[in-house]
Amino acid sequence: MVDDEAVVRNGIRRALEGRGMTSVLAATGEEGLSLLEHQAFDLVLLDIRMPDLDGVTVLHHIRSRHPGTPVIMITGYPTIDTAVECTKLGAEDYLVKPFRLADLEASLSKLEGRQTPDVEPRPAAERGLRIDDSQDRIIGESPEMESLFDKILKVAPTDSTVLITGESGTGKELVARAIHAHSLRKDREFVAVDCSSLVETLLESELFGHVKGSFTGALQTKHGLFELANQGTFFFDEISNLSLNIQAKLLRVIQEREFMKVGDQKKITLDIRILSASNRDLHESIASSAFREDLYYRLSVVPIRLPPLRSRKGDIPLLVEHFLHRFSNRINRDVPQVSPDAMEILQEYAWPGNVRELEHTIERILILEDTEILRPRDLPSFISQRQGDFQMFSEDPLSLEELEKQYIRFVLRKTQGKKTRAAEILGINRKTLGMKIKKYGLK
Ligand SMILES: Nc1ncnc2c1ncn2[C@@H]1O[C@H](COP(=O)(O)OP(=O)(O)OP(=O)(O)O)[C@@H](O)[C@H]1O
Ligand SMILES: [Mg+2]
Repeated sequence: MVDDEAVVRNGIRRALEGRGMTSVLAATGEEGLSLLEHQAFDLVLLDIRMPDLDGVTVLHHIRSRHPGTPVIMITGYPTIDTAVECTKLGAEDYLVKPFRLADLEASLSKLEGRQTPDVEPRPAAERGLRIDDSQDRIIGESPEMESLFDKILKVAPTDSTVLITGESGTGKELVARAIHAHSLRKDREFVAVDCSSLVETLLESELFGHVKGSFTGALQTKHGLFELANQGTFFFDEISNLSLNIQAKLLRVIQEREFMKVGDQKKITLDIRILSASNRDLHESIASSAFREDLYYRLSVVPIRLPPLRSRKGDIPLLVEHFLHRFSNRINRDVPQVSPDAMEILQEYAWPGNVRELEHTIERILILEDTEILRPRDLPSFISQRQGDFQMFSEDPLSLEELEKQYIRFVLRKTQGKKTRAAEILGINRKTLGMKIKKYGLK
């Protein structure tokens, strides 16, 4: 039950209790959404007019994240438009406050008579966070990803700047698109600019636009990307590559919320939501004076850090399934199965290129291998070979300590972290193993 008025919440709760139903109360849309992320509900009663997130927006989110959950809208300010909109969005019913218990009961009975939606686990292609109306989704079900989805949905409807960091291929651009898609600016432009691919002089006129004749070659007046993105979302990819000169200009634009075309005097008001991404640690860039600290704070009001794939191996099977489906459909073949030992190898590999590397690997396998079941021998050798091998004699000689550390890590991996078993193999007692794990910072 999501309603900003305590009287309404408590009244309805009591009424439902009388019918033997338990309810959980949320005072804001955001609170409601975050409850839904962690628990399944049979029904959502949703107020429309609320101070932060309004009910219609919340309904949007519920439809995309929890399509099976029925929603009844309740409002003190009925209008035909919202009623129609809510119905279009799939609300089950629309009650006008104050309503009698009998009205609510009638509405509930209608629902009860309906078939309950099946609760089969959804296929990979439907799990994760929807990005837009295309098939693209951010796939993941690990706690790390669940909390990422949570954060995206929380920050999306605000206008705060978001700095997305993470290794290459972890999905930074997907996250930026998801934030836009779940924001109130979703029907406006999402403009992405890769800061590393533009020459500085051009970048300035690309961003701000220029007037005819402002420099050699400026034959026509040109609208910049800022103007194009106005009222929408602007995404600076690889932000660490911005030159200090552009950084200074950008900072001014963000502060003053207006800008001018190159060679122009006329100020244009800027209304954009700024997202940026970097796979480099900006603190290092700040330390080496390559990035302005003041700009950093402006851009990272909400920081989002994407975990590397190796730290959320639990997502690998789901991602494999997702990409197998996607590429099989694309080339019109049956989706192959993955044998358990092959999946284990895929899960053990460190994926230095993260999800992008996994995506490309699956695509390549599907093109090259024509089997119904993928077995270890169908995997590229660089993946299957590395599988937990312990290289006692690598190219560079190791100190005894380093060797011990690596060997303990190897044994722990083999025993899947079971310390008693590992200690047995290593021939030391469990306590000594514990100390060594701590000493070497092993996990
Ligand atoms: N969680 C995910 N679910 C589905 N696809 C993903 C996921 N994460 C990444 N991808 C896919 O992996 C590829 C790389 O993602 P993306 O371009 O967003 O990474 P990035 O972090 O911006 O990388 P880079 O720093 O190299 O630009 C894309 O094809 C994207 O669709
Ligand atoms: Mg990227």
